[in-house]
Formats: sequence, C-alpha cells, structure tokens
Amino acid sequence: MERFIQEGRIFWRKTGMPRLKIYADEMPGVPLQDVWTDIYPVTAGARERLGYPTQKPLALLERIINASSNPGDVVLDPFCGCGTAVHAAEKLGRKWIGIDITYLAIGLIRSRMQSAFPGIEIKEDGDPKDYASAQRLAAIRPTQFEYWAVLKLGAQPTGGKGPDLDGVLPFIEFGDRAKRAVISVKGTKTVSPVMLRELRGAMNGEKPIGILITLVDPTSGMKTQAAAAGFYESSGKKYPRVQILTVRDIQKGKRPEMPPQRSPFAQAPLEREEARTKRLL
Ligand SMILES: C[S@@+](CC[C@H](N)C(=O)[O-])C[C@H]1O[C@@H](n2cnc3c(N)ncnc32)[C@H](O)[C@@H]1O
Repeated sequence: MERFIQEGRIFWRKTGMPRLKIYADEMPGVPLQDVWTDIYPVTAGARERLGYPTQKPLALLERIINASSNPGDVVLDPFCGCGTAVHAAEKLGRKWIGIDITYLAIGLIRSRMQSAFPGIEIKEDGDPKDYASAQRLAAIRPTQFEYWAVLKLGAQPTGGKGPDLDGVLPFIEFGDRAKRAVISVKGTKTVSPVMLRELRGAMNGEKPIGILITLVDPTSGMKTQAAAAGFYESSGKKYPRVQILTVRDIQKGKRPEMPPQRSPFAQAPLEREEARTKRLL
C-alpha cells in the first residue's frame, strides 16, 4: 500500500476509500483472434465509399498494417484495387507500392490519395509514357487504352457504354445545373469524320462540349468540322464545343479547354491534420 501511495497509484474516493489505478497497457488483454467482427464492410452509405466494387474498409487495412509493420517500412499490395492498403500505409507513415492491372484502379487511387492527402506526390510506372507504348496498349488492350486516355484528362471512364461514349468530365457552371464534357477515344490506325458525328450525337444542352482523343492525327476535314461546331460560352469565356486531342498532345501535357472542373470521382475524406502531424513526428 505504501509503495502504491509513493508511486501515485492510489486514488482516494470522497468516502475515504482508496482505489488502485491500473493502466490499460499493464493489462494482458485478450490476443486478437483470427475472426474479426468489429470492423464493418463498406456499406452503400459509408463516407469512405468510392464506388469500387471490392473496396475494403480503411480500418481493416490499418489494423493489418499496424500489426505487421513499423513506420518507415514498405507495404506492397500487388492487387491494390481502389488503394485501401496504400491509403492506410500512407496514413500510418509507411512507404508503399500498389500494383493493379486496370487503369481504372490507378486513376481512382490517384484521385483518392490526392483528396485524402492534398499535395501528395505519387510516382506512376508502367503507363504509356511515349507514343510507341500508347500504340502498343491500343493494339493489345483497347479498353485499357481508352481508360488510360480518359483518366489522363482527369475524367471518369464510362466503359464505352451508353450515350456518354468513353468518358465524362464534369465541370462547374455557376448558377446552372451540373454540366459535363463527353469524351470519345479512338485507338484505331485511321480516323474519319464519322467519329466526329458520333461524338456530336452524344452532345446536348447538358453535355455541351465534346472531346475526341485520337491515336493518329485527325484529317484536315475533321479539323474543319470540329472548328465549325463553334464555341460554348461560360462565365464570359469561350470554349470550342468540339475539341480533337491526339495522344501525342496528351503526352506532351495538352489538356482540353474547359470551364473549371470538378473531380468525377467520389472524394476520399481528408485525413485529419493531427494524424498527419503524428506521422511526421
Ligand atoms: C479484390 S480487388 C482488391 C481490392 C482492394 N483491397 C480494395 O480495397 O480496393 C483485386 C484487384 O486485383 C486486380 N488484378 C487482377 N488481376 C491482376 C493482375 N494480374 N495484376 C495486378 N492486379 C490484378 C483487379 O483489377 C482488382 O482491382
């Protein structure tokens, strides 16, 4: 009792009864079992939901990473989907490498990480950095080529289904309803004016801008047709209604002329500043 008093471990109640203070880290506790029922799946209304069909809860990956690595270690997720493991790794101060076979996952991770950790720099390997690699991707995996081109513009791929062609890029129209640009990607070796007609067919009042991405240079006839579509005016500025961008243009960093854009992806909640500060200490 005297030792406990000396150690400051006795708490005296108002009644005069002594109570012993026992700290949580001195308790043996119960080891974590191999069935975890206290972390819930990502439900339809969950704040962290991004829309990727196989998304796992961040809390689950945080527990796994906390239990199996130390700050500064490298976490590798070779099937990283929408990047829950890499998000948890970044949050917990680990280095990380994420691999996925689809550009859809890579685009979503880029958007997720940038919204959760503003200013984060992510190095991407394996995407077509030169024209020959883009040609190769278009030839062997046409759908992935379309995803890659659409995601390069920060747009959302629509998988070539429905009237939106290959992608949409929402933009902000003050005092008006949300509008979007529609994107069509052509990875073929030749291009024709029919492609422009198809694009124009998908445009309307809510989709007033159309972007055609081509692997090869458009013909002069196509350029004339695009120019003839005129301009869309927004907040006193004029934007060409129909824009043709080649893959070479995109690889050089050229982007469509658009009113201010809104991310087409669901945004990951911002990681709290104190969590980031703790990681840096
Ligand atoms: C179950 S999901 C991963 C889900 C992830 N844990 C999350 O929270 O989003 C599996 C992923 O593996 C990817 N995948 C399938 N085959 C692959 C391969 N050969 N190489 C790399 N990734 C692949 C799929 O595209 C998919 O995104």
